[in-house]
Amino acid sequence: MDILLFGPPGAGKGTQAKLLTEELRAPQIATGDMMRAERQSGSELGKKFDEYMSAGKLVPDDLVIELIRKRLSQDDAKGGAIFDGFPRTVPQAEALDALLASMGRQIDRVIALDVPLSAIVERVVGRRVCLDCGQTYHVSYNPPPSDGVCVSCKGKNIVQRKDDTEEVVSTRFEQYEAMTQPVLAHYQARGIVKVIDGVGELEAVTARLREALGR
Ligand code: AP5
Repeated sequence: MDILLFGPPGAGKGTQAKLLTEELRAPQIATGDMMRAERQSGSELGKKFDEYMSAGKLVPDDLVIELIRKRLSQDDAKGGAIFDGFPRTVPQAEALDALLASMGRQIDRVIALDVPLSAIVERVVGRRVCLDCGQTYHVSYNPPPSDGVCVSCKGKNIVQRKDDTEEVVSTRFEQYEAMTQPVLAHYQARGIVKVIDGVGELEAVTARLREALGR
């Protein structure tokens, strides 16, 4: 099954995708995480990603599509995937459709998490992430352990993302409204979109998500 988790920055896509991977036996494919890993490696490509990410701007489509093409050729993604933060433009959606079609697949369901801007800013500014494994925390709703040791990988690299400031978040939200929201219409035409309320306890949102997936 190929599922797309859709929503503005900080909507909870990554948090929910991680919770679903085991149940759906499909990997989370998060372009933001992949780009941050490339940036951590210090490569030239990572430096290019950083130019856009630090400013809250979208990375050019050709770079993103190449990243996804390589990722989909890996063994763990052969039976389906949970896409998180991709596609973010209509050309990315068209490229994904073509890539999946070449593998005899298609996006089966798009779940859009509906979260208002006021909640987004609070979530994003309070977010902390583990640089080693990507585990996400929130200073109020899901605080990182006081000893700074990640519950998931036991690493000691829990930090605030540099694009998680109020200023950068407003640019990210503008980019979302201008370039990413039209992606929903692309899939709505196929009747596979379900919009769910993304506000509330994590578990309540997961329950809504599972219901929308018919599970
Ligand atoms: P990316 O990493 O994809 O960021 P994003 O889409 O802006 O999404 P976030 O990771 O901010 O949020 P999320 O929805 O995953 O929320 P989370 O679960 O963490 O992209 C970053 C940058 O990379 C982009 O700006 C762009 O430059 C580039 N990029 C990436 N993909 C690209 C693409 N396809 N094309 C072009 N450029 C691309 O939750 C947020 C916080 O809220 C956490 O602290 C969490 O603990 C908390 N939380 C979650 N759920 C709840 C809840 N129910 N109640 C309370 N708190 C909650």
